[in-house]
Amino acid sequence: MEHEQAAEMSARVAGLFNRVADTYDAVGVPWFTPIAERLVAECSPRPGERALDLGTGRGAALWPLAAAVGPNGHVTALDLAEQMVAATRRDSTARGLGTVTFLVADASYPNLPPASYDLAVASLVLFFLPEPGAALRVWWDLLVPGGRLAVSTFGPRDPAWEDLDDVFTQYLPPQLLDARTSGIRGPFATDAGVEALFRIAGFDDIRTTSFDLPVHFNDVDHWYRWSMSHGQLSHWLAVPEPNRAEVLAQAAERLKAARDPRGGFTLEQQVRFTQGRRPLPG
Ligand SMILES: C[S@@+](CC[C@H](N)C(=O)[O-])C[C@H]1O[C@@H](n2cnc3c(N)ncnc32)[C@H](O)[C@@H]1O
Repeated sequence: MEHEQAAEMSARVAGLFNRVADTYDAVGVPWFTPIAERLVAECSPRPGERALDLGTGRGAALWPLAAAVGPNGHVTALDLAEQMVAATRRDSTARGLGTVTFLVADASYPNLPPASYDLAVASLVLFFLPEPGAALRVWWDLLVPGGRLAVSTFGPRDPAWEDLDDVFTQYLPPQLLDARTSGIRGPFATDAGVEALFRIAGFDDIRTTSFDLPVHFNDVDHWYRWSMSHGQLSHWLAVPEPNRAEVLAQAAERLKAARDPRGGFTLEQQVRFTQGRRPLPG
């Protein structure tokens, strides 16, 4: 990707996440938190380790990571969106965490000392980066030999969810139809695709696990507020104002396919965890 194009993509992503910093993961839908908690558990952080949380957002991975490495460990949490960093720094102070350093930085070139981290995680971040493969190589370099990297990305979602999200498709500019985030094409479409990115970047001991996350919405408005509270806000903003009520009505209609007998709607998303290790010398 050209430098200018990459800079434009990063600026767009930072603007989007700055805008949702106050509502992100705060509308009563367990989504980022269960994904990140599982990601952290997958890579078994140990007390005293030095960890890196790339694209920390509102701290979904940071909190379990900081708890696991404990008072003798340390977490560096970085994000491109300064509002995200500011809000999460406040939360960290409120939690009394003294072992976290916050940085407003681009995860693609964070300017951190090489071979300094035992462990790095990036939950639902890699597909936002202009050059994911190049970023993985940079992260490889930040790890000590034997250090681990774990990332979460999306596998398939259930057909009802595909159909629901399709209400936006006709309005989306090409950059929002990007195959990397849709999980339909490109390296993020398959376990093997993400593993290949890891392999090319130099990781070994690469493995993938996944789980299906059921996501419950109490009613259409709950889904609407959730969809406005995170990256999907960009889809709503792509719909011209006069058309938004119609899009919401279509979404309400399509949500009926996901009606839960216990009330509300339940949709399912597969989440993928890919891990690798910077090889030990020799
Ligand atoms: C979907 S959110 C995930 C946040 C958090 N890891 C979680 O699991 O809730 C993606 C985050 O990545 C950040 N991000 C996107 N591109 C980035 C980049 N180039 N460098 C650093 N952070 C980035 C966004 O600002 C946002 O906070």
